[in-house]
Amino acid sequence: MIESEALKNEWHVVYRSKDLADGDVRLVRLLGQDLVLWRHAGRAAAWLDLCIHRGARLSLGRVTNGELVCPYHGWRYDLDGKCTLIPAQPKTPIPARARAETYHCQEKNGFIWVCLGEPAHDVPVHPEWENDDFLKVFTGPYTFQASAPRAVENVIDVSHFPFVHDSMLGQAGDPDEIENYDVEQSNEGLRAGPIVVSQPAGDHRRIPVRSTYRFWIPRPFMPYLMKSFDAERCFSHFMPVTPVENDVTLMWVLTSANFDKEGGEARITKRNADVFGEDIPIVNSQRPAMIPEALRQELHVRADKLSVVYRRWLTDLGVPGAK
Ligand code: FES
Ligand SMILES: [Fe+2]
Repeated sequence: MIESEALKNEWHVVYRSKDLADGDVRLVRLLGQDLVLWRHAGRAAAWLDLCIHRGARLSLGRVTNGELVCPYHGWRYDLDGKCTLIPAQPKTPIPARARAETYHCQEKNGFIWVCLGEPAHDVPVHPEWENDDFLKVFTGPYTFQASAPRAVENVIDVSHFPFVHDSMLGQAGDPDEIENYDVEQSNEGLRAGPIVVSQPAGDHRRIPVRSTYRFWIPRPFMPYLMKSFDAERCFSHFMPVTPVENDVTLMWVLTSANFDKEGGEARITKRNADVFGEDIPIVNSQRPAMIPEALRQELHVRADKLSVVYRRWLTDLGVPGAK
């Protein structure tokens, strides 16, 4: 269990909406805790994966008549988590304590989001979600053997592009100098950019481009980037990150592109797999897996401005491992 009030009160992605059909029961893990996720009549529910009777896993159960049935003694729970039947004594009143431990659960932007505490902020509005000019492609989740802040810092860091993604997002033999850029902090999180770099194969068309990056991090584990090539063509990645354990992280990617849409889904899927395939071994190698407690334990240069502001913001928010 990751003990953090700050993280408990955030929304985290646990699944893709379309991958959970009516009647499905799944085991998912969030903040070091096992959850049962299930759906009936279109509504998804996320509970502690534990039956109050004898502690069996509810995720081993099944859905019958719209209720989740515990695999051990068949107690039934309705969508609100209330026990409706104890088969061994069906005529006896059901104790009030016979309930599942339920959590806040909502669906937005194609994801199922769970909050284990009391949500202090809603899931932010995704800028392209309602815009039909953009093709939407879901990829991942990609698994990092690293803490969530290390994974987030990877996708908001432009100076690694030429080295980790040589010949695609930059050139190791001719890296761009990163010009100074702005970072703003507000109650909408952090915004940074523009940052302009040259890329031999900067998008799923795989052609040389000058790319302008703008970053937005509305909540600590929800990095978003907009990358534009000219006045019309742009794409975004929304990359909510799920802290599964302190050092195990899932990154879900929703890519939106307003160009080269014909057949774009397959090319974006392949490209994202290539990019994250290059990032993951490097991020997994970082020590410590958590961000060091003090800024001075690593060395920061001007190009790292966004990471530095991000670390300070995490500290202010009380996110563990980022003191
Ligand atoms: S442990 Fe769930 S019904 Fe007994
Ligand atoms: Fe990368």
